Amino acid sequence: MPKNTLTITDNRTGKLYEIPIENETIRATDLRQVKVKESDFGMMSYDPAFLNTASCKSSITYIDGDKGILEYRGYPIEQLAENCTFLEVAYLLLNGELPTKNEYEDWVQSVTQHTMIHENIKKFMDGYHHDAHPMGMLLGTVGALSTFYSDARNIQDTNSRKLQIIRLIAKMPTLAAFAYRHSVGFPYIYPNNDLNYSENFLNMLFGNTVKHIKHPTLAKALDVLFILHADHEQNCSTSAMRSIGSSQTDPFSSTSGAIAALYGPLHGGANESVLKMLEEIGTINNVPSFVKQVKEGKGEKKLMGFGHRVYKNYDPRAKIIKRLAEHVFDITGRNPLLDIALELERIALEDEYFIKRKLYPNVDFYSGLIYQAMGFPTSMFTVLFAIGRTPGWLSQWQELLSDSEQKIARPRQIYVGKTTREFVPFTKRN
Ligand code: CMC
Repeated sequence: MPKNTLTITDNRTGKLYEIPIENETIRATDLRQVKVKESDFGMMSYDPAFLNTASCKSSITYIDGDKGILEYRGYPIEQLAENCTFLEVAYLLLNGELPTKNEYEDWVQSVTQHTMIHENIKKFMDGYHHDAHPMGMLLGTVGALSTFYSDARNIQDTNSRKLQIIRLIAKMPTLAAFAYRHSVGFPYIYPNNDLNYSENFLNMLFGNTVKHIKHPTLAKALDVLFILHADHEQNCSTSAMRSIGSSQTDPFSSTSGAIAALYGPLHGGANESVLKMLEEIGTINNVPSFVKQVKEGKGEKKLMGFGHRVYKNYDPRAKIIKRLAEHVFDITGRNPLLDIALELERIALEDEYFIKRKLYPNVDFYSGLIYQAMGFPTSMFTVLFAIGRTPGWLSQWQELLSDSEQKIARPRQIYVGKTTREFVPFTKRN
């Protein structure tokens, strides 16, 4: 009769250990019983970058990287992108179920009522240098919100938690738009409660400028992009959110930390890097030589917007964005960089180097082309990712707080430094 256990033989001692298996996983702490001497610390597992370590049990997002499947709370991303608004998806992520009509209306009203930010935050924003990166401004101002809402520290109070979640989802577009207006030296535009989430954001960004093309297709496209970015299980920024949240920090500070993690070019910053890469390539004719440089670079030079830790197939979000791009370009005109991107994808998908490593376009490969066509400067791309990801971060944070198995995050290390030695005074050091 097969047993759901793993038997380990310690060849140092000849001892056998039987370890339970649950969800195809063993508990790392079960390894601690594997010892040579009773006084030993016990066996650990070494997993830099968490390639094979589950840090939590979660019922929010499911990904099958080999098949290219992404689901929020069991609903395929394609269906949500087709049928929902971003706020509907945010509700789903946070509450586990799609809202009824009444629940949805209450939720939208709550978010809409909290879009305003304190006037002092505006002054805070004014303090940034004119060429400050909007992601830096966003993470700074989101962190600063924690000083405006001291009640946010009551993280064990469900009502307070709910209020902070609403505040964060509501204020994120306002802060993002203010960061943009600050960088171009335009006066801020206050939220307009008569507009929906994405329309309001576009109005705060581009209102009273030539860039403002008021078209439902563009607002809808942005809403879909937010849906596609809304959660992605235990990625770098979500892990940062959970890790910071595990010390019982308030959600504004934790979200600020998650934004910092997203900022990097290997995570959310990749959409900005993709555009820079396409501009550097310049013309379709240069694509083969660029791909050659990537292959010869042995990891030094990467094809940005390609590859993923989890997806070893076409990223389902990239497929949706590629289709969405056509609708946007019908309104804005075709982004000339699209042809370079398509050629890059065509060549890469036929190339042994990329096939062998299962490198496919990810969510960032085509999103920047849409953002650029809509008038966003490249520095705003990752900010857009952050707005979309906010409900995901908050859902994961909420789940963490209600998980009785969770404690403060505190990985172990393998110490490889010097062994104990005597202090050397200045006079004897050389
Ligand atoms: N271009 C060229 N080669 C690549 C790329 C790429 N974009 N990505 C991975 N490789 C190679 C890598 O050099 C390695 O080759 P080798 O086996 O010869 O050493 C192999 O593929 C495996 O790569 P890895 O670095 O071990 O994979 P990882 O899981 O650690 O990294 C990644 C995942 C997303 C950081 C990486 O693919 C990458 O840097 N991609 C470009 C940046 C990017 O588009 N990031 C956005 C990710 S999607 C948005 C998000 O969720 O954040």
